[in-house]
Amino acid sequence: MAAMGQYRNIVILTGAGISAESGIDTFRSAGGWWENHRVEDVATPEAFARDPRLVQRFYDMRRAAIQEKLPNPAHEALARLDAAWTSKLLIVTQNVDDLHERAGARRLIHMHGEHLKAWCTLCDIRHPWRGPLLDNLPCPVCGGHALRPDVVWFGEMPYRMGEIYAALGKADLFVSIGTSGAVYPAAGFVQNAVELGARTLELNLERSQGSRLFHESRLGPASVIVPQWVDELLA
Ligand code: OAD
Repeated sequence: MAAMGQYRNIVILTGAGISAESGIDTFRSAGGWWENHRVEDVATPEAFARDPRLVQRFYDMRRAAIQEKLPNPAHEALARLDAAWTSKLLIVTQNVDDLHERAGARRLIHMHGEHLKAWCTLCDIRHPWRGPLLDNLPCPVCGGHALRPDVVWFGEMPYRMGEIYAALGKADLFVSIGTSGAVYPAAGFVQNAVELGARTLELNLERSQGSRLFHESRLGPASVIVPQWVDELLA
């Protein structure tokens, strides 16, 4: 991989694998994120309509848990890259934890939402939120009782896709880190990047589902291979 001078616009996609070494389970590992729940029971709008207390309790647990975790060297390396890279750069994360921003990343989009926000579906305002939602507290702005986790559920549209595709359209380097490539639209970003002429690099513990679309795959734990790659790029 060439050094800084060769690239102008970088788009980095991250997934659960970058937070694995911080102690947050990935989705598709054994005993993973969904624990004993079926996706249909906790991560769809239909599940929320059917049993809001189950869904709120599930996300309340997750919201509490991530606040105990810390960024690892992979998050820190991306924050270092963000600070040092004077050309365009965008980190698009599928993760709903806040470890990228706690490490110091600034140019960041949470395409699947954020655990630490509550969304009032009455007035459409998102609020920073650290405590439980199960208590059915009122919205701090409109006073209504319709707060839900600000996470994107299956069947819902990921956030800020226009900005993401605009960045991909200009990218000359696309890097995918710690994601299995199982969930669209993020899984399709590599195809977009290739079609638009970008170089593509995957950094993952094992080959992802779209691995053949990457010009280069580096396999290993994110806490090791991400800092190595950032050092090379900034050398
Ligand atoms: P997955 O659980 O599907 O994949 C995690 C990937 O990280 C796998 O390819 C692992 O091999 C890899 N991995 C695990 N530990 C790693 C480590 N220490 N270093 C590097 N890589 C490691 O998670 P995602 O791809 O993020 O969406 O899942 C995508 C989406 O599916 C999530 O955002 C979520 C889920 O359903 C929604 O909830 C909408």
